[in-house]
Amino acid sequence: MTENDSQELYPSDLGTQEYWEKTYALEIANFRSHGDVGEVWFGEDSALRIVRWMRSRTDLINQNDKIIDLGCGNGMMLVELAEEGFKNMTGVDYSKKAIDLARGVLKNKELSNIDLQVCDILSEDQSSLTSDFKVAHDKGTYDAISLNPDNPKEKREKYIKNVHNILLPNGLFILTSCNWTESELQSQFKDYFKVLQMIPTPSFKFGGKVGNTVTSVVFQKI
Ligand SMILES: C[S@@+](CC[C@H](N)C(=O)[O-])C[C@H]1O[C@@H](n2cnc3c(N)ncnc32)[C@H](O)[C@@H]1O
Repeated sequence: MTENDSQELYPSDLGTQEYWEKTYALEIANFRSHGDVGEVWFGEDSALRIVRWMRSRTDLINQNDKIIDLGCGNGMMLVELAEEGFKNMTGVDYSKKAIDLARGVLKNKELSNIDLQVCDILSEDQSSLTSDFKVAHDKGTYDAISLNPDNPKEKREKYIKNVHNILLPNGLFILTSCNWTESELQSQFKDYFKVLQMIPTPSFKFGGKVGNTVTSVVFQKI
C-alpha cells in the first residue's frame, strides 16, 4: 500500500485543541474534588503492555535513556514508566490544562523529577525540545492529529518529521493507534521509520474476520 492509498479519517472534535482544553478542564475539576485521574486512553492494559515491552528490551532501552511522551494528557503513562524504573522522562501536551492535571497527578505520586512542558508538537519551533531522545511514545496523539478538520494529511506529515527530528539516530518511536491499521501506519511512516516490532494487542473475531481494536507499533528511526 502506498501513502496515497490511506484515506484520511472522518474529521472530529477530538482533532481540535479546544476539545482537549474543555476535556481537561473537566478532568482537573474531578481530580481536585475526588482524586480521579480521568481517562486512560485504550485502557490501563494497553499502557502496561508497552511498559512491559520497554522493560523487557534491555538490549534496546536503558533505564537512564531519555524518553518523551507525546500528548501525555494526565501523565499516567509517565507514572507507569517511573514505576518500572525509567528515570529520564519528559511529557508534552499542547493543552495547558492537561499539563496542569499531569503536574497534580505526578505530585500525588511523589514523582518530582519528570519534566512537563506545554508544547504543540506540530509547531515550527521545537526549540524547547532537544534532539536526543532515545524513545518517543505516543498513545492516541497521532490519532487525534489525524482527526483534525483542517488539512490532517499535512499535519500528520509534519508530526512524523518532528518526531524524527527529536530522536537520536536509531531512536525508537512507540505508537499506539485505534484509527489506523499496521499496514497504514507502516506506509505513512516509511520515509522516516522502519517497523522494528509489533507489540501484540488483543484481537476480536467478527464475521469470520480477525481484527484488532488497537495497534501498537515500535518504529526505529532511519
Ligand atoms: C487521545 S488523548 C491521549 C492522552 C494520553 N496519551 C493517554 O494515552 O491517555 C490525545 C492527547 O494528545 C494531545 N495532543 C493532540 N494534538 C497535540 C499536539 N499537536 N501537540 C501536543 N499534544 C497534542 C491532546 O491534548 C491529548 O492529551
